[in-house]
Amino acid sequence: MLFCFTPRLLIWTFVFVSQFKGQALLKRTKRRWQPPPTQILENDPGPFPKDVETLASDSAREHDVYYTISGPGADLDPKGVFSLNRDTGLLQVHKSLDREEIEEYKFKISAFKKATHEPADDPMTFVIKVDDKNDNPPEFVGKLQFTVPEQTSGAKVGKVNATDKDKQDTDHVRIKYSLKSELNLFSIDPDTGEISTITNTLDREVKDKYTVIIELRDLKGAPKGLSTTGTATITLSDINDNAPTFRKTSVTTINENESEKCILDIPLDDKDLENTPNWISKLVITKGNENGNFRVERDPKQNIGRLCAVKPLDYEKTKSINLEVSARNEPDLIGTSAQWQSVPIVVSVSDVDEGPEFSAPTIRIPVKENTPNGSVIGSYTALDPETKSSSGIRYYKVQDPASWINVDTNTGELKVANTIDRESHYVYDGLYNITMRAVDPSLKTGTGTVILVIEDVNDNMPVFPSQLVMCENKDQSLSSMLVTAEDRDQAPFSSPFTFSLANENEDDWSIERFNDTTAMLKQLKELPRGRYEIPVIVRDQQSFGRTQTATATLCVCTKQGVCQAKQSSISLGPLGILALLLPLFLLLLLCKLATMGEEGEEHFADDNVKCYGYEGVGSAAGSVGCCSNLGDEDNLDFLNMLGPRFKTLAAVCKKT
Ligand SMILES: *[C@@H]1O[C@H](CO)[C@@H](O)[C@H](O)[C@H]1NC(C)=O
Ligand SMILES: *[C@@H]1O[C@H](CO)[C@@H](O)[C@H](O)[C@H]1NC(C)=O
Ligand SMILES: *[C@@H]1O[C@H](CO)[C@@H](O)[C@H](O)[C@H]1NC(C)=O
Ligand SMILES: *[C@@H]1O[C@H](CO)[C@@H](O)[C@H](O)[C@H]1NC(C)=O
Ligand SMILES: *[C@@H]1O[C@H](CO)[C@@H](O)[C@H](O)[C@H]1NC(C)=O
Repeated sequence: MLFCFTPRLLIWTFVFVSQFKGQALLKRTKRRWQPPPTQILENDPGPFPKDVETLASDSAREHDVYYTISGPGADLDPKGVFSLNRDTGLLQVHKSLDREEIEEYKFKISAFKKATHEPADDPMTFVIKVDDKNDNPPEFVGKLQFTVPEQTSGAKVGKVNATDKDKQDTDHVRIKYSLKSELNLFSIDPDTGEISTITNTLDREVKDKYTVIIELRDLKGAPKGLSTTGTATITLSDINDNAPTFRKTSVTTINENESEKCILDIPLDDKDLENTPNWISKLVITKGNENGNFRVERDPKQNIGRLCAVKPLDYEKTKSINLEVSARNEPDLIGTSAQWQSVPIVVSVSDVDEGPEFSAPTIRIPVKENTPNGSVIGSYTALDPETKSSSGIRYYKVQDPASWINVDTNTGELKVANTIDRESHYVYDGLYNITMRAVDPSLKTGTGTVILVIEDVNDNMPVFPSQLVMCENKDQSLSSMLVTAEDRDQAPFSSPFTFSLANENEDDWSIERFNDTTAMLKQLKELPRGRYEIPVIVRDQQSFGRTQTATATLCVCTKQGVCQAKQSSISLGPLGILALLLPLFLLLLLCKLATMGEEGEEHFADDNVKCYGYEGVGSAAGSVGCCSNLGDEDNLDFLNMLGPRFKTLAAVCKKT
């Protein structure tokens, strides 16, 4: 039985080859057959649905059958692209297909008996392939940015990459590359997309960036092929094809004697890329610096060199120096015939008119203290360093704290103006400074220092302290104390001292050497409290000395060297008052005794009042009436010293 439908019919277990042309070959076979894939061209404009194939099973001849289809594109996603008529087996396509989306559809077709729904035949796998159309233009892959060194012909700039979504290994994806601009500067390999330079005239310093239009065309570049254009950016990288150049030749000046000073900026230009080794200049002094007076350095931020003086120059020897400075870059020059450049620099040395200079910055002049006023002790003069002459130079004192020296304005002679005293507080370690100024006729100045080295003279004798406090010993033993004398002179006009008492017959006190400067003053016998004037002779090593009177106060001390204070006498108030009343009391007593003597002489053993009059120096009791040792009458301190005298008086009264 022949099944013939449009556009073609496939029958299980039969071979049916159908072309749209209508030629058919029918052949019966016993074996099962898998039909070849059906091909559908993509992008079919329709109308849809469109018949693809009619499928029929052999079994349809014996049974009433129906057909089912399953697979992606039918009952699975994308659903509904194809449909199969259940009764007729007609397969239809419902929309335009896109090969770049789905290249092949695979369905399972089954036939069932209508009566029993049992399979009427084995299921068949049915494949539809989507045929390619050249519907995708080529695309660029990657960024179209390239860098190539300037001035190089035949250099590889980079490779342009492209893809095409159409079917691989067909002319639809066979791309040709071509340049649409800058054809005189660059070329592109039509098959590989490799861009190269074709000239060495690309100069970064003229133009550092080029944009190049590139076309991609498939179908091997055929006019019918699809095309895309893109813009590639080609940046030129720097090569050291420019030498640094000097802006100008230079003339500069430097003062003589100046060093460690930068005297000239040397600006440089370099057309190469800024802040790269091709741009940074190194400077070298190539001529004129045989003595190493100069060096060149570079400003780290700008392309500026600096000429600096290292060693001082002397105008009298060198009035100008011709230097040559050369500039270069770290890398060698390439792509140019230019050479490293040099520039001449003339440095003129200027004469500095220096002020007068003293013969030495400081001089020392020895001088004896007490040198008479008006004595010349020396002179301190200055010279003009240019003329080596002193003429016209005037001299002034700047500092002379004790005003000891006069300076002769015209000659620089130094004269004593006042008594020079080595012991003055202006003198440190025997040295006294005077600052002087020399002034030349053009009023330039120079200063210097005169140090007076003052020689000691024995103009000070040892001084014994004039006020001494001698503390009474608690145990009533005789007191002694150490007394130190001072001499402001130095050795040998000072210690060791000799100590002696001026009064040869002194029997109350003694003095003896303790060490070079100190003597021990001793009480030789019990003495009443009070003040004693003791003439002492102290002499220095040269026996220079005299009698000095030391006033020693013998007292009860609160602490070493301090007498008990005045108000403590108030605690002895009653005794003090009693003592003040003593003369009156004595007078009354004498009167009474006299009366008694007249009235009954038998009451007194040759006793008479004379024995109370004077008991002599050295008596423990002393004399009440005699105040020779009591000093100042206004001073009531003596009340505290009345001890033994008051006892005697008390004894008399008792007797009475
Ligand atoms: C093209 O591909 C090559 C190799 O993968 C790569 O080296 C090159 O950088 C690519 N070019 C661009 C422009 O992306
Ligand atoms: C300047 O230099 C000259 C020569 O070296 C020297 O004699 C002179 O003392 C210097 N002057 C000063 C102020 O340093
Ligand atoms: C020097 O003169 C001053 C005042 O003019 C005077 O006080 C001093 O005693 C004099 N000295 C001598 C050592 O003549
Ligand atoms: C005096 O001059 C010397 C030398 O310049 C200095 O060392 C010293 O300190 C000066 N003395 C005084 C008291 O200024
Ligand atoms: C002498 O003795 C006194 C008292 O002990 C002491 O202060 C002083 O330093 C001594 N002087 C000498 C030169 O030894």
